Amino acid sequence: MKGVLVALFLAGCGKALATEASYDCVPGMPCWPSASEWQALNQSIGGRLIRTVPWAAPCYISSPHYNRDVCSAIQDGYTTGLERETVYGSMQAVQYEVCGDKGCLLQSIAPELPPLLQTCDLGRLSAYHVDARDGSHVAAAINFARKHNIRLSVKSTGHDYLGRSVAPNTLAIWTHNLATTRYYPTFTAKNCPSVQRTNVGEMGAGVLARDAYPFFQDYNMAVCGGNAASVGLAGGFGLGGGHGVFTPIYGLLVDQAIEFDVVTADGQLRTINECNDPDLFWAMRGGGGTYAVLLAYRFQLYPAIPIHMHHFKASFSLIGESFSNSSIVRALVTAHVTNQTYWSENSITGRFYYGYDFAEFHTILPYDDDGTKIKEVTKNWLNGIQSIPGLTVEMSEYDSYEKYSDYNAVAQEAAARLTPNGFAANVASRLLPRSLFSPESTTSLVNAVLEGLDINFGISNIMKSTPGLEVMMTTPVHTPDTEGATSVHPDWRKSLWHAAYMGGWTKGTPLSMQQSIIERINNAAQPLRNLTPGGGSYANEDSILVEDWQSTFWGPNYDKLLSIKNKYDPTHLFDCYKCVGWRGANE
Ligand SMILES: Cc1cc2nc3c(=O)[nH]c(=O)nc-3n(C[C@H](O)[C@H](O)[C@H](O)COP(=O)(O)OP(=O)(O)OC[C@H]3O[C@@H](n4cnc5c(N)ncnc54)[C@H](O)[C@@H]3O)c2cc1C
Ligand SMILES: *[C@@H]1O[C@H](CO)[C@@H](O)[C@H](O)[C@H]1NC(C)=O
Ligand SMILES: *[C@@H]1O[C@H](CO)[C@@H](O)[C@H](O)[C@H]1NC(C)=O
Ligand SMILES: *[C@@H]1O[C@H](CO)[C@@H](O)[C@H](O)[C@H]1NC(C)=O
Repeated sequence: MKGVLVALFLAGCGKALATEASYDCVPGMPCWPSASEWQALNQSIGGRLIRTVPWAAPCYISSPHYNRDVCSAIQDGYTTGLERETVYGSMQAVQYEVCGDKGCLLQSIAPELPPLLQTCDLGRLSAYHVDARDGSHVAAAINFARKHNIRLSVKSTGHDYLGRSVAPNTLAIWTHNLATTRYYPTFTAKNCPSVQRTNVGEMGAGVLARDAYPFFQDYNMAVCGGNAASVGLAGGFGLGGGHGVFTPIYGLLVDQAIEFDVVTADGQLRTINECNDPDLFWAMRGGGGTYAVLLAYRFQLYPAIPIHMHHFKASFSLIGESFSNSSIVRALVTAHVTNQTYWSENSITGRFYYGYDFAEFHTILPYDDDGTKIKEVTKNWLNGIQSIPGLTVEMSEYDSYEKYSDYNAVAQEAAARLTPNGFAANVASRLLPRSLFSPESTTSLVNAVLEGLDINFGISNIMKSTPGLEVMMTTPVHTPDTEGATSVHPDWRKSLWHAAYMGGWTKGTPLSMQQSIIERINNAAQPLRNLTPGGGSYANEDSILVEDWQSTFWGPNYDKLLSIKNKYDPTHLFDCYKCVGWRGANE
């Protein structure tokens, strides 16, 4: 069954197979709009209907878009997230650009070589996308899709690890150019006088992290954003959770939400907050992008504080051993696990990357001091790991960044190096509750982590230059959300780690091998799942194969989320893969 599902997902670009007929009109059918109907749509939205050209088309000699100079710029930026996200016709994880052997890829490791495929095909991309500049464009696209029974897809940056922002044969709404940013020193929510705040930010749905951070920094304000500068903040990130270095002290981005401008499936523009459509507002604070199209996100900012970081890089050799048998990796993971509770109490955050023959740890503390506190809190841990026999320490230094954007440049350099874009990236993750970090549980947690690494690296053609596990200490440990104002899985609040196994494939990997890699990465998270029966994971960062996705992603909130979905999108116009209300592989 699993194998069938992966094959369907990777290969399925044909007709919609829906048993329940809805939004299943695809090109070639009589219901598909005529050229003049498309033209009328285009005119009604000021010429913003675009016929999609896959990003790499200029590199295909057989393509009418072939152009050597344009191609060479694309080759240069092929693995750069910041380049990929600025075009509709590209995804961050390239498997979502293709259906089986149809697509328009370059060779990930060697984009300068001729493409592997003979012809450039749309793959999973939409034939047409609306380059929305305001709510009326979004409403027009929604009304057109509804009228013609065509499925919709909504894409911001294309970062989604489950490929949710593209779907074959859809009309796409591209939110990239909804890019306004505003700062409100004081703010009252619309028709909602009880919600009054100071230091409120507004981001259009297409605003990128790299643009939001410096904009608000000019007001001396910090944003509860994420790691990569390329990620969009208001789209899938801000609707599904949004974790980063400020999460242990201030919470997730959904915790900061105050008001959204959205367009619902009935084509209505609405401003939603605690007073107006409060059920929809709650659902969009964690339930993901399946309720409405977000236009603008208003949220709480915080006065900027320095970011302190310890940067550690080391290498080791397994010499034929397994991770489970490696005393070096066991000592590293044990030190991490045993110090975690103390760190969380002190709001230490960061990301630890475990590789095949290296480890890179970013231990971070946003705190208004000169860097003294992070040194105190990490001293014992550092003394311990620096003397692990057989470990070669390559870098161990404390740095302080006065400005978030200075820190983010370092984080971005690491993200580009350790979690590059432009290849077929996959993750499988779990939220790990505080109880697993008690002394009695240390051994079982460490064993599960190492077992997962053994599974993940236990296949011959795996990429060994990128990490197999990223442990993110970016959970909301000090913001319990006792009022239930957000709809993310409640396990976020009691977890100290969001741990993600990761990997992928590059050029020319046969479909059957792709399938086994996806399964292997998914299996790597199984030991952690076994330790957390009934537990949860981050809906934005898990495997396409995750089972019981409703309860895994949303836990006890799922039923309420589903009833709100049925209220605002009763005909399933915005359904996406393993999103609230999704009805199965045929959709
Ligand atoms: C390199 C990398 C780094 C990451 N780092 C972090 C991190 O630090 N913290 C974190 O929390 N997550 C992180 N993520 C995960 C990220 O939250 C998800 O990939 C998220 O889905 C990205 O949202 P997007 O809108 O940019 O992406 P897209 O792929 O464009 O969209 C994702 C989903 O949101 C929907 N959507 C997008 N825009 C809208 C809109 N305006 N209205 C309604 N629905 C919309 C799409 O339809 C899709 O379902 C990272 C991902 C990558 C690839
Ligand atoms: C929509 O109109 C614009 C402006 O006239 C034009 O450039 C564009 O190609 C049109 N789109 C389609 C799909 O025809
Ligand atoms: C670990 O080492 C033992 C003995 O050295 C060996 O028998 C066992 O197969 C190893 N386990 C793995 C998973 O490699
Ligand atoms: C933190 O890790 C070090 C090893 O690096 C260890 O000596 C120390 O006991 C750990 N601290 C706690 C509280 O377990």
